[in-house]
Amino acid sequence: MQEAIVWEDIATIGKNLGAEAHKLEGKTVLISGGSGFLGKYLIGALCYLNDTTLAKPCRIISVDNFITGQPHPDFNFRLRDDVLEVWGDVSQPLPVREDIHYIIHAAGLASPVYYKKYPLETIESAVTGVKNLLELARKNKGLEGFLFFSSSEIYGDPDEKAVPTPETYHGYVSSVGPRACYDESKRLGETISTIYNEQFGIPVTIVRPFNVFGPGMGHADRRVLPMFAYKALNKQPIPVHGDGHQTRTFCYITDAATGFLKVLLMGTPGEAYNIGSADNEISMRNLAKLFVEIEGNGASYQMIPYPTNYPAGEPQRRCPDISKAKRELNFIPKVDLKSGLSRFIDWCRTDPRYSEGASQDA
Ligand SMILES: NC(=O)c1ccc[n+]([C@@H]2O[C@H](COP(=O)([O-])OP(=O)(O)OC[C@H]3O[C@@H](n4cnc5c(N)ncnc54)[C@H](O)[C@@H]3O)[C@@H](O)[C@H]2O)c1
Repeated sequence: MQEAIVWEDIATIGKNLGAEAHKLEGKTVLISGGSGFLGKYLIGALCYLNDTTLAKPCRIISVDNFITGQPHPDFNFRLRDDVLEVWGDVSQPLPVREDIHYIIHAAGLASPVYYKKYPLETIESAVTGVKNLLELARKNKGLEGFLFFSSSEIYGDPDEKAVPTPETYHGYVSSVGPRACYDESKRLGETISTIYNEQFGIPVTIVRPFNVFGPGMGHADRRVLPMFAYKALNKQPIPVHGDGHQTRTFCYITDAATGFLKVLLMGTPGEAYNIGSADNEISMRNLAKLFVEIEGNGASYQMIPYPTNYPAGEPQRRCPDISKAKRELNFIPKVDLKSGLSRFIDWCRTDPRYSEGASQDA
C-alpha cells in the first residue's frame, strides 16, 4: 500500500515533465545524494520515464556516502539494470570513467539537527562537493546540464518587505551563527557554480527548494513535518517551538521534483530558481492544529522552548516568490497543503519508522 503511494507520486512527476523528458533519451545522469529523500524520487522519476516514455533509456548513477541517507524498501532500484548505486563521497574527486550528460548535486546535510551535528561535513558536501562535481563536468565535453541543490536558507531571515522572497533578494545571513555552516556553504556553492558557468561554460542551474515534503522522509531527521507526523500518529503532543508564530510554506514532492527536473532541463544556465509553494504560508502553531484536525482521534499539540540540539536563529518567515519559475518553466504547484499532508500521513502510518519507540537518533 505505501509502495503504491510512492510509485503513484513518481509516475506523476514523470508525466508532469511532458515532452521535456525526451532530452534524457539515451543519456547518463549522475545524482549525488541519491539515497536521500529528494534523490530517491529523482531516480524513481527517471526509472518511470525509462519504463514508459523514453525510446532509449537513460542510465542513472547514484552516489551517496550514507552519512544520513539510507535505502528504503519502497524505493528499490537494486534489481534494475538502468540504475547503478555506488558508495562515494563527493568531498573527494569521483573516479568516473564513463561519459556523463547530466549531473545533479543533491548530496548535503539537509536537516538542522544533522547540520548541527556535522557542521564540517555540511560545508564539505556543499563547497568541495560542488567543486569536485563541476570539475567532473569540465571533463565531460558532452555535458548538457548541471543542477546544484542550494536552499531557501540562503535568504536567511528575510526582511518583511522581501517576503514572498524573489531570487533577486540577497539574503540576511550570519556568517558565524549556528546555521552558518549550512547557509553560508550553500551560498558559496552557488558562487562556485556561477563561476564555472561564466569561466568554463558549464550549463549550471541552481535550485533553491522551500521545505519539500512527502513519503520517504524518515522521522529521525527531525524536519518539522516528519516530526509532527510521528507525534500525531503516536498520540504524543506535537511540540511547537517558541511562540509558534514562525511560518513556512510546504511543497509536496510531486510538485517540487517536477520543478527541480524542469530547472535542470529548461533553466537558463547561470541562473537560480526558487522552487516551492507560494500560497500556503502557515505558522507552526496552525500547522500543528492542522495535523490534529487531519489525524483527529487523540492527537494534540503543546508549546515548548527550543530544544538545545536545535540551531538558534531560525528564520521567522519563509515564503517563496515563484513567479520566475512559473514564467520561464511553467512551474505551477498543484497539490494543496491539506491533501499533501493527508497523503504523507497515510504513508507514515504504514512505515515502521513512525511506530512508537522507533529510534530517533540523529
Ligand atoms: N528537502 C528539502 O526540503 C530541501 C530544502 C532545501 C534544500 N534542500 C537540499 O536538497 C538536497 C537534497 O535534500 P534531501 O531532502 O534529499 O536531503 P537528505 O538528507 O534526505 O539527503 C541527502 C543525501 O546526501 C548524502 N550525502 C551527504 N553528504 C554527502 C557526501 N559528502 N557525499 C555523498 N553523499 C552525501 C546523504 O547521505 C543523504 O543520502 C540537499 O543538498 C539539501 O540541502 C532540500
